[in-house]
Amino acid sequence: MKPVDLHIISASPEQTRAFGRLLGSLLREPLLIWLAGDLGAGKTCLTQGLAQGLGVAADEPVTSPSYTLMNQYRGRLPLYHFDLYRLNRPEDLEDLDFSSYLDADGITVVEWADRFGEQQGAGLKIRLTTLDENCRRIELQPGDASQADLAERLLALWRRENAS
Ligand SMILES: Nc1ncnc2c1ncn2[C@@H]1O[C@H](COP(=O)(O)OP(=O)(O)O)[C@@H](O)[C@H]1O
Ligand SMILES: [Mg+2]
Repeated sequence: MKPVDLHIISASPEQTRAFGRLLGSLLREPLLIWLAGDLGAGKTCLTQGLAQGLGVAADEPVTSPSYTLMNQYRGRLPLYHFDLYRLNRPEDLEDLDFSSYLDADGITVVEWADRFGEQQGAGLKIRLTTLDENCRRIELQPGDASQADLAERLLALWRRENAS
């Protein structure tokens, strides 16, 4: 794959949400998205924007599915939002029927990609890194050519919209 630079710096939660929204607005077909990054890096924040971009109604607020492990939302495509933070054993993924969501009819977003799931399917990986209190590095790591194309279109649009 081409070694292109696929990262942005977000300076606020609003920017991270806007970036997620732009990504969501570009999605036309099912996709698996792995979100990696520490607690507070902005994974849920980005997912909230993504839901908006997918047209999820504002009265269905996106919160971290920490206890339920998965929340489902209705948008242009269905959104399946997993959070593996509280998952103790990889076997627990079976109880969630996790594998069926790796190749689902909608957008599957998995917080805490690094925990267990990551190896289980190809997908677009997004790594969020906390730089300081309000700054986050958000890096896209596409898993195939169509994801690379999506990532490049997203960043081109983002850079155009945020050019000062
Ligand atoms: N640039 C930024 N992007 C995202 N969140 C930010 C940013 N700057 C500060 N924050 C704060 O960091 C926290 C991110 O929380 P959250 O999205 O729940 O993280 P995670 O799901 O990765 O644990 C929020 O309290 C948010 O206000
Ligand atoms: Mg979270």
